[in-house]
Amino acid sequence: MKLLILNGPNLNLLGVREPEVYGRQPFDKYLERLAETYPQIEFDYFQSNHEGALIDKIHEVGFSYQGIIFNAGAYTHTSIALHDAIKAVACPVIEVHISNVMSREPFRHHSCIAPACKGTIAGFGLDSYRLAVEALKAL
Ligand code: DQA
Repeated sequence: MKLLILNGPNLNLLGVREPEVYGRQPFDKYLERLAETYPQIEFDYFQSNHEGALIDKIHEVGFSYQGIIFNAGAYTHTSIALHDAIKAVACPVIEVHISNVMSREPFRHHSCIAPACKGTIAGFGLDSYRLAVEALKAL
């Protein structure tokens, strides 16, 4: 099983960015442990602050991988182009958020990508990514 973990804007700063919201753990360390937990899964990881680069990566893997775990960051709330990219590919995409977006500012309550995704996992810290792996394994 080949999965892509795809992180959008500002998520390169995990560990230092608003630690009270997103925690203090750098994502590369978390990813190392996640990969150890699932030795049977091949993880690919990509992060970009650019909408077009995220779209290109979805197109690149979306017909050959078994799933994409996607934290679109703030593009979640704005990007119809990402919605369309998810709809365009064959593999299931799980929307994830580290924080519980529904308990935060109203502008975070709407997701442009949610209707195109298989489902959404939010609010469990970095563990949201592991829960998404479990969801994809169970499909
Ligand atoms: C986030 C929530 C978004 O609203 C925010 O813009 C992010 C991170 C999360 O993982 O909780 O960048 O996607």
